[in-house]
Amino acid sequence: MTRRFPFPIPFGWFQVAYPEDLEPGEVTALKYWARELVLWRDHDGAFHLQDAYCPHLGAHLGVGGKVDGAQLECPFHGWKFDGDGACTNIPYSQRTNKRARVRTYPTIERNGFVLAWYHPHEEPPQWDIPLIPEVGKPEWSDYYKSAYIIRTIPQEMSENGVDPAHFRFVHGTDEVAQMESYNTDGACSEMLSKQAYVTPRGVTWGRIDVWNHGPGFSRIWFSGIVDALNIATTTPIDHDHTHIRFNFAVRKFDDEKMTSSVADAFVKEINKQVQEDTPIWENKRFLPVPALSDSDGPIIKFRKWYSQFYAEPYEVGVG
Ligand code: FES
Ligand SMILES: [Fe+2]
Repeated sequence: MTRRFPFPIPFGWFQVAYPEDLEPGEVTALKYWARELVLWRDHDGAFHLQDAYCPHLGAHLGVGGKVDGAQLECPFHGWKFDGDGACTNIPYSQRTNKRARVRTYPTIERNGFVLAWYHPHEEPPQWDIPLIPEVGKPEWSDYYKSAYIIRTIPQEMSENGVDPAHFRFVHGTDEVAQMESYNTDGACSEMLSKQAYVTPRGVTWGRIDVWNHGPGFSRIWFSGIVDALNIATTTPIDHDHTHIRFNFAVRKFDDEKMTSSVADAFVKEINKQVQEDTPIWENKRFLPVPALSDSDGPIIKFRKWYSQFYAEPYEVGVG
C-alpha cells in the first residue's frame, strides 16, 4: 500500500495557539506533530509546551494538571515540573527524580502567535521567525482570523503558492498573478509577483509577495488597491492532517467601516479559496515525479527547498 504522502513530519517553528487562548495559570491539552501535548502558561504569563504524559506513571498533564507559580503539577500524584521539564518536587519524597524529565519544546510569543519549535531529534532552533513590523501598529487593523483542519500535509498546501496554473481552474481567477522571481535562502523563500486588478476605471497593477520562514509560517503581502498582510500558519497534527490558520491585517482607512469591509472581503476570498482547494488537497497524492509543462511554476525548486525540513529518512519511490 502506498501512502498519499511519503514524508515524515517536518521540523521548524509552528503556531500552536494564540496568546489569548490561555490566561496565566491555565493549562490545555493539544495534539500536534502526532504527539499528545500540554500547553500551559505560568504565573508570569510565559507559555510552555511539553509532552503530555507524565514521566512518573503516564498521566496526561493537560487533563487536570495545575499551574503552581512557574511549575506544572501532575493531577495523578502531585509531582511538579518546571518550564524546562525538570522534576522539581515529589510531594511524598525528600528527593526529586532527575531522570523524570518532560520533553519540552522551545516556545515563543511573537507577532500575536504562540509558536513552538519541533524537531524529531530535539535539535535546537535553526532559524528565527522575524518580527513583523505592521503587527500591532495603530495604522493596521487587528487580525481577522480563520482556521481549518485539512486532511493533507503542510507541504502540499504550500505547493499551491508556486502553482499559478491552478488558480484559473480551481479558483476561477481570470487574472492570475505573474511571477517575477522565486528565490530560496536557507530556511526562507521569497516569491515576488505582479497582479492585475480589473477596476471600473481600467486595469490597476498590484503586487502579491510571499515570504516563507520554514515549513509552517508564511507572510503574504498584498499591495496596489489596498495594503494587506496575511500570515498563514500550518501546523501538522499528524501524518496527514494539518491545522491551517489565516490571519489578515489591513492598513486602516480613515473610515472604520471601510477598513472592516475591505478586511471582510479578503477573508471571504481566502475562505472561498480554501473551500475550493480542499477537495483537491484531501484527495490528491504526492507524485515524486510529476509530468510538468514548461509553463508550470517552480514546483521542483520549491520541493527541493522544502525537503531540507525533513530530518528523518523517507522514500519517495517513483510516480
Ligand atoms: S503520573 Fe504524574 S505524578 Fe504520577
Ligand atoms: Fe489554491
